Amino acid sequence: MQVLHVVGARPNFMKAAPVMTALATRGFSQTLVHTGQHYDANMSDVFFRELDMPAPDVNLEVGSGSHAVQTAEVMVRLERVLLDRRPNWVVVYGDVNSTMAATLVCAKLGMPVAHVEAGLRSWDRSMPEEINRLVTDQLADLLFTPSADGDENLAREGVGKQKIHLVGNVMIDTLVRLLPVAQQREGPNTLSRWRGERYTLVTLHRPSNVDDPPRLGEILRVLAELSAESPVLFPMHPRTRKQIERLGLAAPTDRLQFLEPLGYMEFLALQSRAALVITDSGGIQEETTFLGVPCLTVRENTERPITVSVGTNVLVGGDVDKLRMEARRVLRGGAKVGAIPPLWDGKASERIAGILASTG
Ligand code: UD1
Repeated sequence: MQVLHVVGARPNFMKAAPVMTALATRGFSQTLVHTGQHYDANMSDVFFRELDMPAPDVNLEVGSGSHAVQTAEVMVRLERVLLDRRPNWVVVYGDVNSTMAATLVCAKLGMPVAHVEAGLRSWDRSMPEEINRLVTDQLADLLFTPSADGDENLAREGVGKQKIHLVGNVMIDTLVRLLPVAQQREGPNTLSRWRGERYTLVTLHRPSNVDDPPRLGEILRVLAELSAESPVLFPMHPRTRKQIERLGLAAPTDRLQFLEPLGYMEFLALQSRAALVITDSGGIQEETTFLGVPCLTVRENTERPITVSVGTNVLVGGDVDKLRMEARRVLRGGAKVGAIPPLWDGKASERIAGILASTG
């Protein structure tokens, strides 16, 4: 059976890697298409290397653009590849523009498409990812969910039960495999300055936090305040970096350290040793839950509610006073204790491979 995987942006790579390995073990013939949505070496290439992923068979090189442009370019370029290769299944991951664009093309061509990480909902349609999730899940033929809330959401939207499979979290498969390797390392270079200190790790890239200058300024002020208690390491997404440069902002204290985006291994090692993580990423909410590391999410909502109900995640919303208060609580020993959700066990991709094999 021929399976074609479509990946495009950083959070796709760690999800596709274990699924490709599990399918390879079962003898599937596979093609990897990279849309080129993310193209910087530190947003893309480093992940292929560290995750032992094969180089993409095809790179669509769509690059950056408005949502319409990016989506349309993926559609036009991918259609040619699909007509040429005619796979039995197309597998798409997560909620990025490339995911939705690929799913639309498949639906129009009548090619079966499987969505990995289906069913997540933030109920916030101002997030581009929510639109991508809704469209992808309506059109997909097989929906692999990471947690039971996903199954409930899909059932509510009228998706047929026979299409839905609760398989667990594929991103955790990659974490389970690589955590021991990441932890065996000497310790990330990034940490050498702060050896022995309990540090806070920050990532922010959502338009709602970084595209609004007063909001970004407020968040940076709180991070600077917190850095008096705990050094703050801030690997920066290109979108955030551009905005900070445009506004002429600099790190206000040397205990708040702006860094380039990090590779998978270094970021995982940093996460696993952090006293606190502050983020607006979806994946990092899940990784911190698995690692048992306290996480404050700078968003009003989450499509991953299990990280709050079961895991270590706390939503602090748009209120920077709440961010400051909750961060101090964690740094002073009052962190919430969490547990690992069911089926986040490193075997989700094997379950996916089994289900795909049974369709042949
Ligand atoms: C995308 C995903 C988001 C995911 C994030 C992870 C969508 C709608 N959003 O957001 O869900 O959490 O990836 O990183 O698909 N840029 C570079 N180099 C790159 C890639 C991007 O400089 O390699 C810059 C470009 O100026 C671009 C901007 O970052 O305009 C945003 O990139 P884009 O892919 O449009 O969205 P992300 O914010 O990365």
